[in-house]
Amino acid sequence: MSIKNRILRKFGFKKDQNGIINRYLRENGGWQSHLINTKNFIEHSAKAKEKETCVILGSGWLLDVPVDNLNEIFKKVYLVDIVHPKQIIHKYRKYKNIEFIKVDISGYIKPVYDFIKKNRKTKTSLNQIVQQFPDDFNKLMNNASMIVSVNILNQLDILICDYIKKYEMYSDEEINNFRKIIQQKHIDLMPRNKSCIITDYEELNYDDNMNLINKKSLIYANLPKGKAIREWKWNFDFSKTYHNNYKTVFNVMAWDL
Ligand SMILES: C[S@@+](CC[C@H](N)C(=O)[O-])C[C@H]1O[C@@H](n2cnc3c(N)ncnc32)[C@H](O)[C@@H]1O
Repeated sequence: MSIKNRILRKFGFKKDQNGIINRYLRENGGWQSHLINTKNFIEHSAKAKEKETCVILGSGWLLDVPVDNLNEIFKKVYLVDIVHPKQIIHKYRKYKNIEFIKVDISGYIKPVYDFIKKNRKTKTSLNQIVQQFPDDFNKLMNNASMIVSVNILNQLDILICDYIKKYEMYSDEEINNFRKIIQQKHIDLMPRNKSCIITDYEELNYDDNMNLINKKSLIYANLPKGKAIREWKWNFDFSKTYHNNYKTVFNVMAWDL
């Protein structure tokens, strides 16, 4: 069940991924400590796992993934994303142990697209939308030795809910409830004792003198209890292109499930 590029374009996935690399370059080294912290956490978490297969969910540009190290210690590494940058495919296509999987990790993109198309006039509850995964993806998750959700938990709902919002059919409350469902299902998908999650969970906006002006939570789901919890800050946008007047920092948390 591969999703047509036309649908992915409508949701803006390719554009969003290009936005990530452009912001990373624009921030000129500002992301470095966040990327190193993420890689270190993944490497540390890998130590206690069996070393057959490692699945990276949200691999993208591999900015925050210690892929060369994982390639050495695991027999097979699966890089999973809805779009893989062609530069990354080109760079790693000769590595026998690395495989690219193109799949919707949320399981909601195609169901939401079909649902809106069918129910545009009726306004059926968003709770009726049924998550769908290809069988291969379920197998991959069940058989993996280690699964990493890498800076994706609070991303999964954004483009899907932006798409729903365009139709102006649902209140903020209804949409936020659906965000919660998307995030909760992602957490529930991660098998216990062999998974880890790294996610930004809070956005902090500062003025030029680094006075905190406002903050908001980015997580709608209930975060599960974790082991080996680590926290740090990600200087996400100091060029003021995310919010015109503010510098934006994310609080990030990483933990083993
Ligand atoms: C914030 S990035 C994580 C950083 C990424 N590891 C990197 O270095 O570019 C989120 C990644 O998740 C992917 N993504 C977002 N929603 C997805 C979905 N529903 N299914 C699969 N991948 C998704 C995006 O394409 C992007 O590459």
